[in-house]
Amino acid sequence: MAYFISDRQALASDRERSAYTPFVPEVRGCKRTEEMIDKGHPLYTALCSISTLESTSNEMVVYPVVPDGCISMFFYTRDKLNYAKLCGVTDSIRKFIVYPGDQILTTDWHWSPYKTIAAEQGRSIATFRLFNENYGFNAEDFRKRVGEMLEEQDRLIIILNTPAQNPTGYSLTDADWQKVISILSSQAPEKRIALLVDTAYIDFAGDEDEYRSFLPYLEELPANVLPILAFSMSKTFTLYGLRCGAMICLAPNEEIADEFVRVCEFSSRASWSNSPRVGQSIIANIFADKDLLDRVTKERKEIRDMLLKRGRAFEEEAERAGLPILPYDGGFFASIPCDDPASASRELEAEGIFLVPLAMGLRVSLASISEEKCRRIPAKVVEVLNKR
Ligand SMILES: Cc1ncc(COP(=O)(O)O)c(C=O)c1O
Repeated sequence: MAYFISDRQALASDRERSAYTPFVPEVRGCKRTEEMIDKGHPLYTALCSISTLESTSNEMVVYPVVPDGCISMFFYTRDKLNYAKLCGVTDSIRKFIVYPGDQILTTDWHWSPYKTIAAEQGRSIATFRLFNENYGFNAEDFRKRVGEMLEEQDRLIIILNTPAQNPTGYSLTDADWQKVISILSSQAPEKRIALLVDTAYIDFAGDEDEYRSFLPYLEELPANVLPILAFSMSKTFTLYGLRCGAMICLAPNEEIADEFVRVCEFSSRASWSNSPRVGQSIIANIFADKDLLDRVTKERKEIRDMLLKRGRAFEEEAERAGLPILPYDGGFFASIPCDDPASASRELEAEGIFLVPLAMGLRVSLASISEEKCRRIPAKVVEVLNKR
């Protein structure tokens, strides 16, 4: 049932990431077990939970796995204190904490709760331009902003939401990723950088394996850059309201991996005491039943295909109507750049079209309208914007 992120990926060693060999449970003194979702109080999860392997040795075993397209992290040992931990939290990491007053870097087009989350932590957001003049990834602005910010602060958290970004639908290409890695690798080694990749829509962009092709690039990062994946199981398993997720740290050595677990536990406890059990139990049940897993995988594909069809319809009609839109690759949303988005949204509302005003444009929720509506919206938007 378990696949590994890549054959070079592992956590429990201080060797170069590229020197890792695949984790083979049987060779490493582990045996596969059923998910023990009945363990503990029925209404609570452990701070972290769900397990699939049991260690037959007394040593701590730490490794990341990808069970059928879902990336999870399993920590298992015979020592009951370290029993079966899956980190299901997105929170700050003490080692890479950004000091109060420091800024977090993300793209100018971004999911607005990043700002709220940062503000609640006494931090703020700085942005770089996601697109260059040709509507490709603006690596130059990324380089410039990273450099400028690291002159001002010693630690930097960078959030990149890809693939199928909310709100634009943009996905960084492998070539974009190579530039990101090269820019981050060239920063001074005493600077601490956490690269948080928000992969909320990774399974709604296209082929699930192809859209994981950027993962090996993260292994090339030097030790002062910590890659972290924020993975939304609620999205991948179509349980949108359940808010079940995983924070996956590709730590360069065991010490950082251990600290990551401790910090996640501490932060989870401080944030919401325990994470809700329902989503985790559902997912554990899905993985315990091959038929169920096949059905969810099929259901997700159907939803993805439907979204991509809507996206293509919207793109086609936008082109026909002469409406400039941002490059949509996949996911739930697409965006239209425009001036004064708030009034544009009000004017469209009067025509029965509800688009969310953003700082620099309007967001179209492909997830909540039919393909036929996706086709109708562009011409209507052009009509309303032209009247202004
Ligand atoms: C970019 C982005 N990141 C994260 C989330 C939250 O994901 P989750 O359902 O795991 O809480 C969302 C949407 O809800 C989102 O659009």
